[in-house]
Amino acid sequence: MKNLMMLISILLFTGLAINSSADNNTHSMDHGMHHKMHSIEDGRVSLGLSPAMKQHQLANMRNHVEAVQSIIELLSEGDFNKASHIAYSKLGLTEEMKKMCNSFGNETFKNLGLAFHKSGDTLGDTLKTKDLTKSLSALNTTMTYCVQCHATFRQ
Ligand code: HEC
Repeated sequence: MKNLMMLISILLFTGLAINSSADNNTHSMDHGMHHKMHSIEDGRVSLGLSPAMKQHQLANMRNHVEAVQSIIELLSEGDFNKASHIAYSKLGLTEEMKKMCNSFGNETFKNLGLAFHKSGDTLGDTLKTKDLTKSLSALNTTMTYCVQCHATFRQ
């Protein structure tokens, strides 16, 4: 019994420690366990997605980060053509991405998503010029949308 209580305290303590260290905002401890039971309130707008949509979006996002990594790798190898192809096909405004962005029912999110994918096409165009400085600048512009959207929205 004593051991069980100890185990529970350790688990609770660890849970709180992880909870507060994962949250750099100032309001972690005062919300305590209550805070942990609900989705994290961090000032971002929730898209209110269904579980299926959440999975779909996260898979999509993992593809985005992989595309960025591939583009950086190809840039380091000087393979601008292949990098350009990846920019168009994985980050550009394809029919699939257009449909995805239109399906969230949030106008600001949609516009940010569409602008992001347009910047992916611009990145594709820029990579074709084989100018490294311009290409990095275009990649930076595209990544500005990643940062901006993540700061504004959550699932
Ligand atoms: C229009 C909005 C938007 C844009 C643009 C965007 N994302 Fe996301 N991304 C999201 C949302 C919303 C989430 C879920 C975040 C949450 O709920 O905390 C997310 C989550 C992620 C995740 C987490 C995936 C997982 O499996 O946990 C990664 C990685 C990611 N995005 C990468 C990127 C990269 C890289 C870019 C740019 C190349 C990008 N995203 C552009 C909205 C966006």
